[in-house]
Amino acid sequence: MNRRNAMKITAGLLAGGGIGMFTLAKAFKHKPQLDLEPRQLSHEPSESTWNYTPLDPGTTAKIAYRFYPDGSCMFATFKSIVSQLAEIHGEPYASYPYHMFKYGHGGIGGYGTTCGTLNGSAALFGLFIADKTVRDNLIVDLFQWYEKEPHPVFKPENSEMELPAIASNSVLCHASNTYWSKAAGVEIDSKERKERCRRMTADVASKVVEMLNALHSNTYFTNMHSNETVLSCMACHGNEGKLKNTAGKMDCNSCHDESLGHTVFSDVHYRLIKEKP
Ligand code: HEC
Ligand code: HEC
Repeated sequence: MNRRNAMKITAGLLAGGGIGMFTLAKAFKHKPQLDLEPRQLSHEPSESTWNYTPLDPGTTAKIAYRFYPDGSCMFATFKSIVSQLAEIHGEPYASYPYHMFKYGHGGIGGYGTTCGTLNGSAALFGLFIADKTVRDNLIVDLFQWYEKEPHPVFKPENSEMELPAIASNSVLCHASNTYWSKAAGVEIDSKERKERCRRMTADVASKVVEMLNALHSNTYFTNMHSNETVLSCMACHGNEGKLKNTAGKMDCNSCHDESLGHTVFSDVHYRLIKEKP
């Protein structure tokens, strides 16, 4: 009998139990034991020629907004930062082939996957941070910040357009854009939605500068945006749990609705599952 059937049968058996089953499920509550606490990341700058120099977040936001029409979200995010370093240091920044990042528009060639602002930011972390743990931590922190924080916040001078700031819940271009457009009451191909992406580019670029500045001065704290849902789901489903049947850190609720059956029985059922070798 597979585990899914086992869960259904457990559900069936317990369904007669009425209120008692809730008490039972509660008694079995599985406690996540994962690392949630903010902690400082120590970071040694690498020996590479691609070192970062602290920049001004507000200036970066304006530059990113300005570059957006030349090559869209990923291109503008990346170029807003590296072009400033080119002004300070000259080569190798000065001859950076920025055009390569134009592919990231619309979630990679219009495919609707990873938001280009995030793809460009992860490329920046890849350029400046040699240590895999530090790099991955910054990527996760930025992506979780993007899912949770209401955007856009940046507003260019001389613009009359008011846009609502809404948390996008997802790092995927398709979901992020569609969710925002529905909540804002505009069409996906409206000038408001396009302006939203342009302003988001400014928001993300300035956030990346804040993060890199903090890392540079060794005052960076990771886990500031931990997603509790992800941590609780992964306590059972991830490598730390017994199920070990999924990986990732994206906001689970952006795709999965927790079924009533799952809410009530997963704890009890989890107890009955044998530890995988
Ligand atoms: C207490 C442990 C536990 C927690 C916490 C938990 N699950 Fe599960 N989940 C289970 C068990 C047990 C099953 C059934 C196992 C199987 O079918 O392999 C399951 C099955 C699933 C399935 C497969 C489809 C289904 O319903 O059978 C999905 C999808 C899923 N869980 C998503 C989630 C998400 C998303 C979260 C966080 C909101 C979460 N789970 C939290 C224990 C848990
Ligand atoms: C972008 C959408 C998306 C996100 C975000 C997402 N999932 Fe899924 N998940 C899927 C799809 C699609 C499947 C495969 C179809 C299915 O099994 O129903 C799946 C399958 C699963 C399964 C079933 C695995 C099995 O062996 O039956 C589990 C468990 C699960 N996801 C847990 C999670 C958890 C935990 C998170 C958050 C860390 C998460 N998912 C985030 C789309 C998503």
